Amino acid sequence: MSEKKKRHREETDHDMSNLIDNLKRVDDVKYNRRAFIKSMTGATVAIGIATLPFQIAGAMKKEDDPTHVKIIELSSLPKGKSVTFSYPTESDTAILVHTVNGELVAYNNKCTHLQCPVFYEKERDILMCPCHRGFFDIKTGHPVEGPPQRELPLIELEVKNGVVYAVGRKYRHE
Ligand code: FES
Repeated sequence: MSEKKKRHREETDHDMSNLIDNLKRVDDVKYNRRAFIKSMTGATVAIGIATLPFQIAGAMKKEDDPTHVKIIELSSLPKGKSVTFSYPTESDTAILVHTVNGELVAYNNKCTHLQCPVFYEKERDILMCPCHRGFFDIKTGHPVEGPPQRELPLIELEVKNGVVYAVGRKYRHE
């Protein structure tokens, strides 16, 4: 073989090997892109599934979710007495009062001044916060004396078959 032909053949072999390398690289890029898209899709689906219970719990935790929660048998709460409970979550403490006049009212019982618990003062038929002597109207939960400026959140009640239930909560200020 002449020197020229030999060089030409070597160059051709070299070009072929470059071409094959390039084709492999194109395949690699395609493969990697596909693998990346697949893994991202998988990760997105996995995150979606993993967080689903939290999404459902979040959707169910609406403030005005009318979940019925049993508070007490009415026969166990005579007129002039009160009982504490939690609504709508364990950390939302509340007070149910059977007033001296025979009405049932309930409010979250953290004083709207500095969060002390409020109590039913039977003699005055009023809710009282002992921390700074704040008073709330028993019928409305609105502040009537002392430092509190906002009313207590109202717990809506339902009495069924002699049992008192909390069925909702209302905030009445912005
Ligand atoms: S915390 Fe209730 S009056 Fe201050």
